[in-house]
Amino acid sequence: MAMDKFVINGGAKLSGTISVSGAKNSALKILAALLLSDQKCIINNFPFIEDTNIAIEILKDLGAKVEIDKERKMLIVDPSQVCKTNLDPILVKKLRSSILFAGPLLARFGHVEMNHPGGCVIGRRPINMFLDGFGKLGAEVEFTQEGFKLRAKEGKLKGAEIFFPQITVTGTETMMMTAVLAEGKTVLRNCAMEPEILSLAEYLNKCGARIKGAGTHTIEIQGVEKLLGSYFDVIADRIEAGTFVMMGLLTNSEIKVENCNPEHLGAVLPILQKAGAKLEIGKDYIITKPSQMKAISVVTHEYPGFATDLQSPYTLLMTQVQNQSIVHESIFEGRLFFTDQLNSMGANIIMCDPHRVVVNGPTKLYGKKLTSPDLRAGITMVLAGMIAEGTTIIDNIYQIDRGYENIELRLQKLGADIKRITL
Ligand code: EPZ
Repeated sequence: MAMDKFVINGGAKLSGTISVSGAKNSALKILAALLLSDQKCIINNFPFIEDTNIAIEILKDLGAKVEIDKERKMLIVDPSQVCKTNLDPILVKKLRSSILFAGPLLARFGHVEMNHPGGCVIGRRPINMFLDGFGKLGAEVEFTQEGFKLRAKEGKLKGAEIFFPQITVTGTETMMMTAVLAEGKTVLRNCAMEPEILSLAEYLNKCGARIKGAGTHTIEIQGVEKLLGSYFDVIADRIEAGTFVMMGLLTNSEIKVENCNPEHLGAVLPILQKAGAKLEIGKDYIITKPSQMKAISVVTHEYPGFATDLQSPYTLLMTQVQNQSIVHESIFEGRLFFTDQLNSMGANIIMCDPHRVVVNGPTKLYGKKLTSPDLRAGITMVLAGMIAEGTTIIDNIYQIDRGYENIELRLQKLGADIKRITL
């Protein structure tokens, strides 16, 4: 609910196990990719969060049939009855990543119309690389008052060479999906290599696509006529896993983060260990131990570098360790402003420019009234409240519910003193 707030009393020691949900940034992609086929897609380990709820509404609005089984974390989508290709403008405004739906609709039906999804607090989020890519694949781009229309010339898309001027995760996923039904061969260069991209390619190949190189910087797609439907297992949310590991370190607790894939954390775990974190890393779990941490500077980087989505909890962690560190958010231009709110709690963070802050630690934090600007800064405020002295109240927690399923219940189970109040 939009008016909900979290009330957190700091200082609780945590113990026990927390299970990682299916990844938001994997689930959102399959919900778009399944539109390439007219056959059923069965999705397991599905995260029922605000963002995926909106994506499901978009699918239903397009005419897809969606069966939900929350108990079994399953979704069955039948896209055979999809009968329109203009996306509902209100839903698009709510979900920035609704741009993901443009490519599959264009590839399967030859046309699509949607409003520009718009930016968000972490950055302008332009879509120039999407529109350029669609153009290269043989689509005509026509700008409308609020957005754009795409139409495949001669009704069919043609394979092309696309060199991304900048690494883009959803841009890579979009061109990979769209090229699946284009005539001939497409080569994508300077691709993102996030684990969600490899998982998506594996699914599409199960459905009959011919994709090679996903997970590397160069992806080759040989177009096919049709795609079948299949099963998709949403991979564990590496951002949840990394956030919970840092929560264990911040509260100096021994907790087990399970049902995760430590490999998918890339440089994050080695950097945390370099900063002194004592971690037991298993095949599908990570256990945090009370650690004597020190300041280590980081630069966020595309996978397998330090994930930008884990920058905010790491910045908080650096406020609690001895000495000075620099956090360089190289990917987004608006993802460090949340540090003002940490400073209001007692942190000592100096912004050098929109991409860089100097963090001086350690500083004692005191509970405050906070507003969560986006989901990753929002969860960081929850963690800050958990280690601050006194009570922290966070509003606008819709932003947190966008990406973290039942988060207060899961944290209460570990011993955190957090309550949701609905006004
Ligand atoms: C994906 O966003 C994730 N979202 C983001 O997670 C994540 O932070 C980001 O990748 C980087 O890892 C989903 O997967 C749904 P980009 P995406 O295109 O694909 C610029 C979260 O919190 N760019 O890789 O939108 C862009 O402005 C979210 O879960 C253009 O300039 O990010 C950014 O500076 C936040 N033109 C850079 O590229 C374009 O056409 C990288 O963005 C596209 C992107």
